[in-house]
Amino acid sequence: MSHILVTGATGGLGQAVVENLLKTISSSDISVLVRDPAKAANLQAQGVTIRQGDYNDYASLVKAFAGVEKLFLVSGNDIPNRVPQHTNAINAAKEAGVQHVVYTSFQRKTEDGSSAAAFVAEAHLATEKLLQESGLTYTILRNALYFEVLPLFMGPVLQTGTIYLPAGEGRSAYASRADLGAAGAAVLAGQGHAHKSYDLATAQSYSFHDVARLLSELSGQEIRYVSPTAEEFGTALAGAGVPAEAIHMTTGFSVAIGQGEFDFPSTDLEKLLGHAPLSLREFLKEAYKL
Ligand SMILES: NC(=O)c1ccc[n+]([C@@H]2O[C@H](COP(=O)([O-])OP(=O)(O)OC[C@H]3O[C@@H](n4cnc5c(N)ncnc54)[C@H](OP(=O)(O)O)[C@@H]3O)[C@@H](O)[C@H]2O)c1
Repeated sequence: MSHILVTGATGGLGQAVVENLLKTISSSDISVLVRDPAKAANLQAQGVTIRQGDYNDYASLVKAFAGVEKLFLVSGNDIPNRVPQHTNAINAAKEAGVQHVVYTSFQRKTEDGSSAAAFVAEAHLATEKLLQESGLTYTILRNALYFEVLPLFMGPVLQTGTIYLPAGEGRSAYASRADLGAAGAAVLAGQGHAHKSYDLATAQSYSFHDVARLLSELSGQEIRYVSPTAEEFGTALAGAGVPAEAIHMTTGFSVAIGQGEFDFPSTDLEKLLGHAPLSLREFLKEAYKL
């Protein structure tokens, strides 16, 4: 087995990738890139090699990627700085002799800046282009929105009885972060994924009417869906003391859902997993303990 390095392994997705890799390949074939090794003590205890590095520090990446054949590059979460960070990672991969880079990108309908979630698009689009022009073998995972963002966007919906989001009639295909991690591990440990892009999402997309209906069924109480305008939504949240950054993020993603930016149901995820991914119903049942 070739040596694999997973970045972002102290985060939710990277952790899920490593946990799944450990089920199929030896820990001696796995390294992780972390900023703070103390956060990866659990992985070290399982025999995973810890390499310290930061996307902002090119030299640290070249050093960390030495001897690595496959790199799982988790997109960073420092949105304004991701283009130089990912550029560092890809250039360092080339310099270190990495053969294959698997990148966690995102689903989208438009690439022209008209999406309300365009603020997260720039780095993904630039990174995909860089990879395609790099001469490296690459695989692009167009990850769906995580199911896990739904409770963050919807707030304490069982208490309020209302999903209040400016997403209109838009539908979105989601996936659990655990399933996306398992699919990433399947790509790393498997063959035949060179120069391919996968839409990693459930095979069905859902509107917030669907989410409200499922939550109503599961909880036995009526959950309504109300879609304000983006302006009304922003004003209401600001009035409730929600920080501006959180309002910007939730509004942007909700409006983008309304625009159909993430409506890409696909069977790619199921094929990579070898079983049906977690459904929205199962997710809601678990997340809200219903
Ligand atoms: N599809 C979706 O719905 C969705 C939702 C949220 C995020 N995302 C994207 O998907 C990525 C993975 O998701 P996640 O849930 O695993 O995010 P997460 O839990 O926030 O993890 C992000 C990981 O990236 C690492 N990281 C951040 N900046 C870095 C840097 N400068 N150098 C090296 N490592 C760095 C973090 O390390 P530390 O532990 O040191 O901070 C952490 O391990 C996110 O970073 C974001 O780009 C997608």
